[in-house]
Amino acid sequence: MSVGGRLSFRRRVRAVADASLPVVVGGDDPPSLSELVPPGFESVAIEVGPGKGAFLLAATLARPTTFWIGIEAAPAYAKLAAERLATAGRRNVVLLIDNAAQFLRDRTPAGSIESLHVYFPDPWPKRRHRGRRFFGESIADAVHRVLAPAGRLLCATDNAAYAGQIARVLGKSPRLVRDSELERELLAAGPGHAFSPTEFERKYSAEGRIIRRLAFRRSEPSA
Ligand SMILES: C[S@@+](CC[C@H](N)C(=O)[O-])C[C@H]1O[C@@H](n2cnc3c(N)ncnc32)[C@H](O)[C@@H]1O
Repeated sequence: MSVGGRLSFRRRVRAVADASLPVVVGGDDPPSLSELVPPGFESVAIEVGPGKGAFLLAATLARPTTFWIGIEAAPAYAKLAAERLATAGRRNVVLLIDNAAQFLRDRTPAGSIESLHVYFPDPWPKRRHRGRRFFGESIADAVHRVLAPAGRLLCATDNAAYAGQIARVLGKSPRLVRDSELERELLAAGPGHAFSPTEFERKYSAEGRIIRRLAFRRSEPSA
């Protein structure tokens, strides 16, 4: 799906909301983050591209006082994930059908996100499609802006070149810092805290691929 940073994406979304499911169709005027989060939660976390929702299923259980927003560009996956979460009785989550890069830039208040999770983002291996990657050259500013002072960004990929790009574009920001101790800590914390489990992780691990995991945090308090 062609979604990377394109303003036209929102006009192209064709999906119908199902009132019985925790899924919101962003359409051409998506709700803001504050309209999606009910009162009473300690913090807000976002997963970009949750696919079929394996990580959200674990995360909503592991961190019940956090409200989770899964931003998924593919309507069919968003609905599937919402069905799985509803069947499991989770109340601390909503799926939003939108382009996550746009949502972070124009619908997410500064300093509002406690953790941002991006697992196995589409690598767009063809050179002419590279501009569609979530971790493009300008994403670091958006990530830094939305993270709370103690907020963190967690990502994983099997694609060595893309892992290099993620480390480079985020690493060149003086306002984000990679934290390898945090990477080890969160991995050891178990399912749903960060990194795992996801459908693509299971598939790629079974194939023996090397999984690269990266954690970044803000390098200074909120401006
Ligand atoms: C390779 S799949 C990974 C799914 C899941 N994270 C996993 O690890 O199993 C990438 C997912 O990201 C979604 N996606 C791609 N670009 C996106 C964007 N800009 N905003 C939201 N979702 C996006 C795709 O529709 C797809 O479901």
